[in-house]
Amino acid sequence: MAVAHRLNKNDAPTHITDDEKIMNENDFIVSKTDTKGFITYGNKIFIEMSGYTKDEIIGANHNLIRHPDMPKAAFWLAWSLIKDKKEFFGFVKNLRKCGGYYWVYAYITADLDTDGNIRGYTSFRRKPSRKAIETIIPIYKLLKDIEEKEGVEASKKALMDYLAQNETTYEEFVVTLQAGEKA
Ligand SMILES: Cc1cc2nc3c(=O)[nH]c(=O)nc-3n(C[C@H](O)[C@H](O)[C@H](O)COP(=O)(O)O)c2cc1C
Repeated sequence: MAVAHRLNKNDAPTHITDDEKIMNENDFIVSKTDTKGFITYGNKIFIEMSGYTKDEIIGANHNLIRHPDMPKAAFWLAWSLIKDKKEFFGFVKNLRKCGGYYWVYAYITADLDTDGNIRGYTSFRRKPSRKAIETIIPIYKLLKDIEEKEGVEASKKALMDYLAQNETTYEEFVVTLQAGEKA
């Protein structure tokens, strides 16, 4: 019996456009994955924003909607926190099926069973503050440039150095940006 192909980032559109879809003020985008990042659930708004059908998105690798403007360091940080049963907050630019994009303020956390084992992960996203996005765009661009020239280790270090220079932690930086105090 043929096994259905699970979509992943290699199936994503290659024609990337500047067409931005902006989240509604009161919407939540929700998705769940297994322990490897394959999507097991997506709410209606997730399906709408991604542009894929429910059949396409369920079972796909979450990297299907990875935008090429996102630095690897952001996902490295996300996975290192959630695998450690900690919470991740961050601004993420996502790629839609049409080649356009949408920004989110994401929260990701592990789903634990009663013995404390990780059974999968859940993410909730809200509309990000526009000022936060304006702040984060050049930072992500710099991290991407460093990744291309010097590799991901250098970009992780640059991210950590930036936080140290600003005397903040990653979580405090992101949460404050969304709250608008430093933006
Ligand atoms: C619950 C959950 C939600 C995720 N949501 C997104 C997302 O919205 N966009 C995204 O690019 N990556 C998301 N990721 C991270 C992806 O699994 C993946 O690490 C990322 O797209 C980079 O993929 P790559 O390392 O294969 O290039 C999510 C991971 C989990 C566990």
